[in-house]
Amino acid sequence: MNVLFFSAKSYDESFFTAANHRFQHRLKFLETRLTRDSVNLISDENALCVFVNDTLDRPMLSELKNRGIRIIALRCAGHDNVDLAAAAEYHIAVVNVPSYSPNAVAEHTVCLMLALNRKIHRAYSRVREGNFSLEGLIGFDFAGKTAGIIGTGRIGSIVARILLAFGMKVLAYDIQHSPACEALGVQYVEKNDLFTEADVISLHCPLTDKTRRMIDAQAIARMKNQVMLINTSRGAVLDTCAVITALKQKKIGYLGLDVYEHERDLFFRDRSCEIIQDDLFERLLSFPNVLVTGHQGFFTTEAMQNIASTTLQSLSAFENEQPLPHALHP
Ligand code: NAI
Repeated sequence: MNVLFFSAKSYDESFFTAANHRFQHRLKFLETRLTRDSVNLISDENALCVFVNDTLDRPMLSELKNRGIRIIALRCAGHDNVDLAAAAEYHIAVVNVPSYSPNAVAEHTVCLMLALNRKIHRAYSRVREGNFSLEGLIGFDFAGKTAGIIGTGRIGSIVARILLAFGMKVLAYDIQHSPACEALGVQYVEKNDLFTEADVISLHCPLTDKTRRMIDAQAIARMKNQVMLINTSRGAVLDTCAVITALKQKKIGYLGLDVYEHERDLFFRDRSCEIIQDDLFERLLSFPNVLVTGHQGFFTTEAMQNIASTTLQSLSAFENEQPLPHALHP
């Protein structure tokens, strides 16, 4: 197929080009995001490959239909940025890569927890400056503490397994219980009980109408003082303003984010020479007990290889009118 990539980085180009030797699609890579303006860059392509911050709302999908796009391949798992009902109406197929390496995101999640606890982000700078003081760097043992996992799917269940191995008690809240997690020793509880009992809370549910701003002022008020909160799912599962208030009040003791509500206008680009205009984000960065990474949880070699081969495989299946195992429906 003729595939046009939006939001493509050099690493996308190298992993997809390598994987495409097997598939022989015609790939064209654009660094720009898909927007009302950049949509004009579509010429003879019949397939688009997009990423987490490309918005595919109803007007955009209508435009893509008129331009002859027949399939949209999301090179990610989350699909909250696509109006699937509109896509179905316009007969545009949508596929994603539901599981490329849940280990990658789970390991990054635990990395944020450990780094925040032992203040590795601060210790790194201190030692480089010849400051070997331990003042303010004290951490706590994870062993014996209680973790609360919200969403025990592919990623959350691996986080649960790792934290159990640390000797933590692991509570979980999910609309669907996983017998495999229960067999490991995970205890399902009501959401409010998880908020009340957990020392460390980690979010692994998708962004839906039900989960949007699930962590708001009320939820935070139920949490333990000095709770550690980690979000590697989607930014809007947290109410960022409420979280900032709780950080100022010293209610939240540690915050680790790999995703941010308004990341669309920030992440995946070098902005080190720019003046960042997002005051909410800058306020987050001003806290010593906040660690933010720029949506890199998925970013391992294994995950990138899986993303590229699964996406190209879906495009070949579509071209050959075969079933699409990763098709998304409204
Ligand atoms: P999954 O679909 O395997 O698991 C999601 C779990 O959340 C399921 O068990 C589901 O029942 C549960 N859930 C759904 N609605 C819920 C609700 N209202 N309350 C509680 N639980 C609910 O998804 P997976 O692969 O584990 O990914 C989780 C999320 O992680 C994705 O939706 C995506 O947003 C995010 N993600 C982030 C990445 C990163 O680089 N930071 C990379 C990949 C995914």
